[in-house]
Amino acid sequence: MSNVTVIGAQWGDEGKGKIIDWLSNRADMVVRFQGGNNAGHTIVVGDKTYKLSLLPSGVVQGKRSIIGNGVVVDPWSLLEEIAKVGAAGLTVTPDILVLAENATLVLPLHRELDALREEASSQKIGTTKRGIGPTYEDKVGRRAIRAIDLKDFASLPAKIDRLLAHHNVLRKGFGATEVDAGALLNQLKEIAPKIVPFLGSSWRELDAARKAGKRILFEGAQAVLLDIDHGTYPFVTSSNTVAGQAAAGAGVSPRAIGTVLGIVKSYTTRVGEGPFPTELKDATGEKLGERGHEFGTVTGRKRRCGWFDAVLVRQTCVTGGVDGICLTKLDVLDGFDEIKVCTGYQLDGQTLDYLPADANLQARLTPVYETLEGWKETTRGARSWAQLPANAIKYVRRVEELIGTPVSLLSTSPDRDDTITVQDPFVDR
Ligand code: IMP
Repeated sequence: MSNVTVIGAQWGDEGKGKIIDWLSNRADMVVRFQGGNNAGHTIVVGDKTYKLSLLPSGVVQGKRSIIGNGVVVDPWSLLEEIAKVGAAGLTVTPDILVLAENATLVLPLHRELDALREEASSQKIGTTKRGIGPTYEDKVGRRAIRAIDLKDFASLPAKIDRLLAHHNVLRKGFGATEVDAGALLNQLKEIAPKIVPFLGSSWRELDAARKAGKRILFEGAQAVLLDIDHGTYPFVTSSNTVAGQAAAGAGVSPRAIGTVLGIVKSYTTRVGEGPFPTELKDATGEKLGERGHEFGTVTGRKRRCGWFDAVLVRQTCVTGGVDGICLTKLDVLDGFDEIKVCTGYQLDGQTLDYLPADANLQARLTPVYETLEGWKETTRGARSWAQLPANAIKYVRRVEELIGTPVSLLSTSPDRDDTITVQDPFVDR
């Protein structure tokens, strides 16, 4: 068995898109297993840039791509995305893309509720307002509309009534207009013929692929620090983002997820609200943001930036189940005189080597830094260790030591080929 699962090991935006694209080159199938169009993966191939949200990155290579049952799917956004990549020259047909029939649908009322809550709350989460949280709530509340329901117009009205019985009460409370059941039914009937051709069974597809000895790449979205259980709750997304979710969110054995690669940026960023111990609200933070082009792919929001936090990544490698990491954006650190790495936290006179679970304590942590010498040469585009300055190698080695997990890949530019391979995740360990 030679499958690979890729997850983000910080707060997202670690550069998963490029690595997933690089790996999907050698995979037979690419599978999304959680999240929705809150994700944003940028893939650069030659002079073309593709921005994917819901579509598995495999579509760029024409690989069979599955949107698993664990994903929440906004069908209108999905069609828009298919049209957008179509205009850029990528044809996505049901021969390539399969949408799990038991995936949950994101509806306009979910997006609206997401926005209403964010606007009304004094404690904002800073969500992407794509309706992700409200949709997962309805899934767990057993009142959601699923993709398969688009095939059965006779049963839809009863399902819509059950959903609206919940939502219209909430909307009244927010002073929003009620959703009309007939109008929603018509919207769903209108979109159904465009979505139904993509419907299929994620677990059966994967079972057949496994029996045929195919290589499967499981593509995580967001990251472990945004995980609903293991992240910085409540400033998290509403799904499990750890590698274990690949099994539940696609319908495969936990043993089938293969080697787990955690994507880790050489510094730290975060979009939205929530604790961030190594955040730099000064010129250095600005410099990291400018050099790293740290703006959200989905919302365009400026990302918060800070030094590498080895405490967090050591923890996410454990909770996420990471076997090896891919370190990205090393070139953003080029030219700094010194580079800091967080090795612990100070809290009320004590030193911690982990992130406490309590959000109030997380907000009061003071990072303990180790300072490393920087390098003046460029690392951008390096494709071998020999092309890296000695201090850059020292930095990578120290990161490895501190997080207790080996570097499998090193990414040195957005280009697919600018990658140093230490351990190919597709080769059995
Ligand atoms: P939601 O997933 O839209 O509910 O947003 C919850 C939190 O997760 C917010 O802080 C978002 O900024 C963050 N988030 C969601 N998706 C991503 C992503 O793909 N990259 C980075 N942050 C994300």
